[in-house]
Amino acid sequence: MLKTAARGVSLGRRKPKAFGGTMRFGIFWPGTRTLLPSEKIAALNPDPLDLGIQLDLARACEHVALDLVLLGDGYAPSSEEGTRFGFQDPGLHALTLAAPLIMVTEHLGIISTLHSTFFHPTHIARFGANMDWLSDGRWGWNIVNGYRDYEASLFGFETLPDSATLYDASDEAVRIIESLWDSLKRTEFSGTHYKCHGKMKGPYPAERPVFVCAAASERGRRFTAEHCDYMFASPTQLSDLPPIKEDLAHHAAEAKIAQSPEVLVVADLLIRDEPGEAKEMFDSLMASIGANEAAQKWSGQIGRLRNEKKTPFKFPYFVGTATEVAEQLIEAKSNWGLNGVLFRLPVWSPQEVLRLHPVFDILEREGVRLHPQTRDYSW
Ligand SMILES: Cc1cc2nc3c(=O)[nH]c(=O)nc-3n(C[C@H](O)[C@H](O)[C@H](O)COP(=O)(O)O)c2cc1C
Repeated sequence: MLKTAARGVSLGRRKPKAFGGTMRFGIFWPGTRTLLPSEKIAALNPDPLDLGIQLDLARACEHVALDLVLLGDGYAPSSEEGTRFGFQDPGLHALTLAAPLIMVTEHLGIISTLHSTFFHPTHIARFGANMDWLSDGRWGWNIVNGYRDYEASLFGFETLPDSATLYDASDEAVRIIESLWDSLKRTEFSGTHYKCHGKMKGPYPAERPVFVCAAASERGRRFTAEHCDYMFASPTQLSDLPPIKEDLAHHAAEAKIAQSPEVLVVADLLIRDEPGEAKEMFDSLMASIGANEAAQKWSGQIGRLRNEKKTPFKFPYFVGTATEVAEQLIEAKSNWGLNGVLFRLPVWSPQEVLRLHPVFDILEREGVRLHPQTRDYSW
């Protein structure tokens, strides 16, 4: 993702990053033993605090030429039971972890989650400028407000303000950060939520780092359309995707933004060699997400996260042999306009990522994916 623009110039508003009808792929980084609340799944996965595994996973992502990885983040465990078997806790910090992953890769896009509610925008501007320098333009920011009171209390909040107010604050944060990244000017900002006066020292990003948001609310979608390059969506089924894209396009048009953000959908991935093998394993893993405390707390989180409480454990999935998974992806593209997937790997390891190789070979042969090298590894 090397950049060509000279350093120390005024930042452009937004880089054009249309996928041009081809698909992009990332993984939801497993910075914790399991991303799903199941002891059975956790027992199949490696220790997330093994740095060697984390680095090998990044090398595997680079080897199969994934476009990007998302490092999610949160600050508090959601349940004692989850902590006992490694669900979300311990979990690595999305900024700290990004640095070593950047160092062992050359082309992979690496997106860190940073809570605009818990950091002053100047912190984010400085972190971002340094990550941009370290990665030569491969770092991006997943803009989240935080939505869990038991986490916000660590930062002194009794309860979090409502989500729309938090997006108003994030809107101010983005304006400050973009201004601080402009090497040519001094920032003078007095808003409702933040104040910032002065000039931040360099390095400055040559182009604005990629901004991503995973909003589900109307206000959040408007924010995403106004400021972000990509949106991560978590629908229960792929048929929900077209209205999400329409909604985003509507907000972009209202804000007079020519290009609406590209959408990557969160979906589970499991590939095995023999027909039927992956589905059998996947069904048994999903059935292990039981009515335990960890799962109950998580279902509340997902309901809040999606603005939809009825089917918290239902996610789209791509499961089968490599050929079957490639076929499912091509079908989803043709049926629902799916252009991007953020894979969640219930069972994770570098070997699981390497199973994507033949899938991507097929997609490239069929013309629905371009190897990132063909666009000079740009975003
Ligand atoms: C793929 C995805 C990743 C997310 N990552 C995080 C995260 O790492 N930390 C966090 O606090 N919230 C995360 N969220 C929650 C969103 O930032 C957002 O708050 C939520 O989807 C609800 O949308 P709303 O803010 O528009 O109500 C994520 C959501 C999705 C769908």
